[in-house]
Amino acid sequence: MRTLDAALMSTTFQLDTSTSRATPTPKPRKRLTVPRIRDHKKDGETKEPLVMLTAYTARQAQLLDAHCDMLLVGDSLGQVIYGLDSTLPVTVEMMINHGAAVVRGSYHSVVVVDMPFGSYEASKEQAFNTASRIMAETGAAAVKLEGGEAMAETVAFLTKRGIPVMGHVGLTPQAVNVLGGYAARGRTQAEHEKIIADGQKLEQAGAFSVVVEGVVEPIAVALTKTLEVPVIGIGASAQCDGQVLVTEDMLGMFERVPRFVKRYNDIAGMIDETVASYAEEVRARSFPSEDQTYQPKK
Ligand code: KIV
Repeated sequence: MRTLDAALMSTTFQLDTSTSRATPTPKPRKRLTVPRIRDHKKDGETKEPLVMLTAYTARQAQLLDAHCDMLLVGDSLGQVIYGLDSTLPVTVEMMINHGAAVVRGSYHSVVVVDMPFGSYEASKEQAFNTASRIMAETGAAAVKLEGGEAMAETVAFLTKRGIPVMGHVGLTPQAVNVLGGYAARGRTQAEHEKIIADGQKLEQAGAFSVVVEGVVEPIAVALTKTLEVPVIGIGASAQCDGQVLVTEDMLGMFERVPRFVKRYNDIAGMIDETVASYAEEVRARSFPSEDQTYQPKK
């Protein structure tokens, strides 16, 4: 049995059109909580790594929910859903709309919503206003924000006021213009020490978990050993307490993916083949056939 009781069986959904809530069959187990995620790591050790994927829509959440411990409504939706160049133009409204959809589509996983660029950095009060809106309007269990030591005071302010926070250190995509690109971090001793210190400050401030992205493996291993809270890796190490990926990347929705992504399937290829069949049948007038057309009652 899995440690965090995920219902690892295929689930079907019946949509209640009046509430747009999908009723799953079989009924999934109770939703996990932030304290259960935090306490999954005991005495600095995690027996079974936590499973996290991004989700942006209700249907996607339905399909991922039973297999995951956490669903991240990442601001990566800027590139994946909206075709933007970076996460910088993503708005709080976008995060709220997609966050609410993912909460509606899931029953088991803890849903974490990213705070977008410019919505929390100015002051702890600005962060509280944004985070409380996200929590109230989506029903999510937690928010995630980027940055280490510089954000520690903000993280403490939020957690003391009832908002669970997941930190994010290492390669922080919202800081792409300061970092000069998306290359892996931590190749110098100074960077190594800074990333570890960032993680420690976030933990001391009350973060229930920390994402470490795009770092050389020894940093990810050291951070995982140092922190009491779960460290979730992306482009980091299998030794982390959990893993997160952008779902569309691992499904094979994009031909080109970063080196740290494993393409588990070729969804883009499947869509291409399927749509080619549809187009061929439409052009040949073989779709719709008798099976898909209505006839007058005899
Ligand atoms: O926005 C996102 O999807 C993320 C993860 C990839 C960690 O922050």
